[in-house]
Amino acid sequence: MKRIDLSEYGVPEHVVHCVEVPDVGAPGPGEVVFDVLAFPINPADIGFCSGTYRLRPPLPATPGAECVGRVIAVGTGVVNVQPGDHVINLQRENWTQRRRVKGEDVIAIPKNIPIRQAAMLRINPPTAQLLLSDVAPLQPGDWVVQNVANSAVGRLIIRLGRARGLRTVNVVRRESLFAELHAMGADICIVDGPDLAARVAQAVGGAPVKLGIDAVCGEALARIASCVADGGAVVTYGAMSGGQPAIDRGDLMFRGITLSGFMLGRFLGRRSLGEIQAIFADLAVQMQDGKIDAPVAAVYPIEQIAEAVAHAQREAKGGKILVAPNGPV
Ligand SMILES: NC(=O)c1ccc[n+]([C@@H]2O[C@H](COP(=O)([O-])OP(=O)(O)OC[C@H]3O[C@@H](n4cnc5c(N)ncnc54)[C@H](OP(=O)(O)O)[C@@H]3O)[C@@H](O)[C@H]2O)c1
Repeated sequence: MKRIDLSEYGVPEHVVHCVEVPDVGAPGPGEVVFDVLAFPINPADIGFCSGTYRLRPPLPATPGAECVGRVIAVGTGVVNVQPGDHVINLQRENWTQRRRVKGEDVIAIPKNIPIRQAAMLRINPPTAQLLLSDVAPLQPGDWVVQNVANSAVGRLIIRLGRARGLRTVNVVRRESLFAELHAMGADICIVDGPDLAARVAQAVGGAPVKLGIDAVCGEALARIASCVADGGAVVTYGAMSGGQPAIDRGDLMFRGITLSGFMLGRFLGRRSLGEIQAIFADLAVQMQDGKIDAPVAAVYPIEQIAEAVAHAQREAKGGKILVAPNGPV
């Protein structure tokens, strides 16, 4: 079977290699074997390949924070899934054709969710949901401002926020995205840059913005914080600029803004397994009903991993880059 191994940490498209490895074998007691049908290349995977992500295992290492698979065999004692089920995997190392994991690590999902979307259920949808639920107490009608609004997470925040009655100010890098984001429920769209706070205040008619959500870091975070009302909250969950968080000390000291960081695993870790399963069950139904999705720009075979990884790093790529390791999806 084929698997992606990193030979070293470095330029992602140079260090990923599609290698032939022995099959994972039959499932032992309590284990599940599944074929990986599709996986996305997320920014965190790019960081993993670069060696800048929080996890830096010994080499060779296999990347892949999420995937969707089809169960081909289960060991004795496994009751939560059966052969043929579509599953998402709570464990990593998913850039491969086949996985053997503990039964408790996989969650069965409805088979009628399109495979390309199901591949992206595990990380971004709960991230968007918990960013809106766990950071600040928000009521229907409240304003939220976010950057990278056209990212997969940003689009989910627009949709999940609207479903909760929240109103969103969406900061992006180019005006050509406005029509598309408005069509999915964005209240206001704005291009990032100087005077962001003044432009946002004018757009919301002076209403208080309760929460600022940042995935760029650097000065972009400071601009988001400047849009948030006194006493409001700013949360950072990504660093697309590669920078560290910057924030005006006056926003912290005089205006009482609080800044915190979000990591999905840490926030899911506060919940019981039953609560986690309920979150995924709810999001799976929303995905099945077409209420949440993410655009896909291209799907590559596993042998073309270097091209896929390079494509995933392009600006304005227009959607997620997926890999289908066991044939087209
Ligand atoms: N903390 C967590 O637990 C967690 C979980 C999930 C995701 N994340 C983070 O969430 C962020 C979005 O992830 P995703 O999968 O939704 O991304 P994605 O769909 O791959 O989109 C990437 C986005 O980043 C924007 N971008 C890239 N470089 C940028 C820069 N230098 N300045 C401003 N914007 C830039 C792109 O804008 P253009 O379209 O203009 O190129 C695009 O909107 C990432 O930082 C990711 O690491 C964090």
